[in-house]
Amino acid sequence: MIKLKIPATSANLGAGFDALGLALDLYNEVEMEEYDKLDISSADSTPVPTDEKNLIYISVSDLYKVCGKKLPGLRLRQVNNIPMTRGLGSSSACIVAGLVGANKMLGEPLSADDLVDLAAQIEGHPDNTAPALLGGIVTAVFDGRKVHWVKQEVFTKLKFAAIIPDFELSTEKARACLPQTVSHKDAVYNLSRAALFSASLLTGKFENLRTGVHDRLHQPYRTELIPHCREVFDIAYTHGAYAAYISGAGPTVMAIVDDSNEYFAGKTKFSLDNAGLTGWTVREFKIDNIGTRPFDN
Ligand code: HSE
Repeated sequence: MIKLKIPATSANLGAGFDALGLALDLYNEVEMEEYDKLDISSADSTPVPTDEKNLIYISVSDLYKVCGKKLPGLRLRQVNNIPMTRGLGSSSACIVAGLVGANKMLGEPLSADDLVDLAAQIEGHPDNTAPALLGGIVTAVFDGRKVHWVKQEVFTKLKFAAIIPDFELSTEKARACLPQTVSHKDAVYNLSRAALFSASLLTGKFENLRTGVHDRLHQPYRTELIPHCREVFDIAYTHGAYAAYISGAGPTVMAIVDDSNEYFAGKTKFSLDNAGLTGWTVREFKIDNIGTRPFDN
């Protein structure tokens, strides 16, 4: 039986649309083995597709096809700790689980690079799948076939506070609202900030992070799809966040906070409740530097 844990991820990191992402210490778990039929179940209360539409199963099948192997059937158990459709990489975690699990079942014919490429081909962009596989913060360029990436481990005194609403926002809808073209000025605005963000995070110049997360490619449009998004940003900054950005396609707002700010989550939740935003919860995470790995019970 293959047993894997796969981290949640936060993509874009503000200005790095489809290019930057990092892994968090929140994990889905899967157990899988070849079987003579399809047997898929959820080991917690999260409902998951139990047929061929299951994303882990689809990814296992894809990898078998790439390797020219026939998948007889699959026994799969899932534990879904990553909230779904919230901008925390739940679908990427399924894709990565399927690919890494299938690769292990076949004796690891594909390299880490191959898996990063295949995962991005399935997802369409690499900024959740690559950090879910590799851990750390990943800078990635996807040329449509291959991902050119750098993974950097991050050891900081930062925590990532996910401010998660009780409603979902599909990536499909959150991508459909984006413009087809942007101005040269806006392109420069974003690329300078994405570069500043990475360099500042990795060198500890945290006072730059607030500027580094500003962007004109996706957040202004997605803010309109996330009720009370601006108020949530304001509350996060009021309680001392270095930066706040829409995590992935949203609707979660991610606040980057100093470890020493020990009451951030409590104060933020208190302010949210006072503002009538009772459906939002605050959960703090650290960066995961390892990525997908085997686990034992
Ligand atoms: N870069 C992606 C987006 C992440 O913002 O649409 C969500 O999958």
